[in-house]
Amino acid sequence: MKPVTVSKIRAAKGKEPLVCLTAYTTPIAQALDQSCDLLLVGDSLGMVVYGLESTIPVTLEMMIAHGAAVSRGAKHALVVVDLPFGSYQESPAQAFRSAARILAETGCDAVKLEGGAVMAETIEFLTARGVPVLAHIGLQPQSVNALGGYAARGKQAAEAEAIVADARAVADAGAFAVVVEGVVAPLAARITSTIRVPTIGIGASAECDGQILVTDDMMGMTFGHVPKFVRRYADVGAAVKAAAEAYAEDVRARRFPAEEHLYGATGPKIAAG
Ligand code: KIV
Ligand code: NA
Repeated sequence: MKPVTVSKIRAAKGKEPLVCLTAYTTPIAQALDQSCDLLLVGDSLGMVVYGLESTIPVTLEMMIAHGAAVSRGAKHALVVVDLPFGSYQESPAQAFRSAARILAETGCDAVKLEGGAVMAETIEFLTARGVPVLAHIGLQPQSVNALGGYAARGKQAAEAEAIVADARAVADAGAFAVVVEGVVAPLAARITSTIRVPTIGIGASAECDGQILVTDDMMGMTFGHVPKFVRRYADVGAAVKAAAEAYAEDVRARRFPAEEHLYGATGPKIAAG
């Protein structure tokens, strides 16, 4: 067992804030592992890593490959893998089959799925059968086609009440924590004080029990639009561009490779053929 378990995450409610980030590869998992309580292999990898327009085309095979890569790099943080669109919405049985493959083939600790009250039966089915579930309510990117965009949720009273009902439903169904994405701040705070399990906010509220960001956004490795809720902690994209420019100059000027990079440069001379 890793130092961070599902029960520890659940017990963190009302204590130290939970530190969560996304990871898609082994080296990033290794770099983030000790600083984080939870690493999420998010289906955001469709956009961030594969250049897709949305998370809709992400497959179970993609999630399994990246989930396994992250699990190999994480020795401390809890690893959670997203169930992708189409792999769980049909029935609790379908969700269990997909979740079982993810757990068995990646070595991760839990799965995440999008949906509130509508997914409560599925969350109950999975948790009763040994699959820990992180729920995801508010803005649900897998529903972008139905919602028509990524606008913040909960501005109207009726919608806010429905989101509170979603939070209650997934917590009662047995989710060990709930990601609350893209909702107006007072609503995220209210959900946090309403349910007994931790809320993990993204574009939500400082009062959530934890925070998550897409790592590539927070480290400056995404080149498109940066959402309002992101704080940039590094400019890795600029560092990579500068490294490529310096390498290009060295190769073109024959400054690279140098003596110290070569095999056998100081050994016996080999006669030209
Ligand atoms: O896919 C993802 O990265 C997510 C987080 C932003 C919560 O679901
Ligand atoms: Na996701």
